[in-house]
Amino acid sequence: MLLYRGFSRNSRSILNRCQWVLLPLQHHHSILSSTVRSPPDPTRKEQLDPFSLVADELSILGNRLRSMVVAEVPKLASAAEYFFKMGVEGKRFRPTVLLLMATALNVTIPETASDRVVDPVATELRTRQQRIAEITEMIHVASLLHDDVLDDADTRRGIGSLNFVMGNKLAVLAGDFLLSRACVTLASLKNTEVVSLLAKVVEHLVTGETMQMATSCEQRCSMEYYLQKTYYKTASLISNSCKAIALLAGQTAEVSMLAYEYGKNLGLAYQLIDDLLDFTGTSASLGKGSLSDIRHGIVTAPILFAIEEFPQLRSVVDRGFDNSGDVDLALEFLAKSSGLQKTKELATKHAGLAAAAIDSLPESNDELVQKSRRALLDLTQIVITRIK
Ligand code: FPP
Ligand code: MG
Repeated sequence: MLLYRGFSRNSRSILNRCQWVLLPLQHHHSILSSTVRSPPDPTRKEQLDPFSLVADELSILGNRLRSMVVAEVPKLASAAEYFFKMGVEGKRFRPTVLLLMATALNVTIPETASDRVVDPVATELRTRQQRIAEITEMIHVASLLHDDVLDDADTRRGIGSLNFVMGNKLAVLAGDFLLSRACVTLASLKNTEVVSLLAKVVEHLVTGETMQMATSCEQRCSMEYYLQKTYYKTASLISNSCKAIALLAGQTAEVSMLAYEYGKNLGLAYQLIDDLLDFTGTSASLGKGSLSDIRHGIVTAPILFAIEEFPQLRSVVDRGFDNSGDVDLALEFLAKSSGLQKTKELATKHAGLAAAAIDSLPESNDELVQKSRRALLDLTQIVITRIK
């Protein structure tokens, strides 16, 4: 059975006990977040689906991505397009954030309301910002293709991972190919600051992934090390892309930094919840293996918080989780601890910081700008309440 493969029935029952810990957290207000703005109330009447606000542009983006990854050699072509095909495009979370950010920073969407004068300069800017969304998604998918090779994953987005279906070699080459196509689009923007930002992101992705291979317990058991790695692996891409959106719009350093802060904190919140779901979600709901982090000896926030309460867990972590008995033992400690709850609280704190960055943007009376800012605020809530 694919679900919980390699684990004893014991692991499953421990996990079931872990899951209830999360239930009261939907209404839990963190002491950690007491100094930052609370994310918006999801029951607010005016809440719109943030994804629907940019649905038309997302569909154009999907078509653009498919055309950007066309390759000469059929084998490479089918590998490169694998995760851009309809139905397996994923949540398109990053492009959604970036397109909303573009509007939130007062940039006109060209083909919207007829009462809006179509300004060619604004149209050109929006197109350039759409390119950033495409590049970001391309870098993201490239990193996933390589990540699945490193993790020896067999599923992704509910289907076989590319390495599983076509082999490691083609998966690595397809990732390289996507990066090269992203570079070509990036160069076409002719903005060296934006090129440097996104080049730095690729360096961060590689650095984060390498940090994750750490073998010393000092590093693996350190919350500081984990958060730095999390920034590199997840938050750098979205934060620097948000900053690129602001830079292309000619925004001030201050506004660009707020865009960056929003992306950084949203990214950190997103990954903290991802790490939590690895313990509480099912393979079916996640579209990839559950318990995969601990199975690979990767120590994430829930276990790090559990170590603070049960220092004896450190020696279990030190052994590397090579046997499933140690995984069960760690899960026992986790179930007894408030590790899952504290992870959710930390994610909530970062979601609050992301919301505070949006609240600090210069005021605007433009209805579309306001709507997009509300959608960005709503995303901070969606990120911490998601179950997949
Ligand atoms: C998912 O990690 C992976 C990443 C967020 C980044 C991976 C980066 C690299 C492999 C470096 C190479 C980068 C490029 C751009 C080619 P995860 O295993 O925690 O998440 P998962 O559960 O979705 O697999
Ligand atoms: Mg992985």
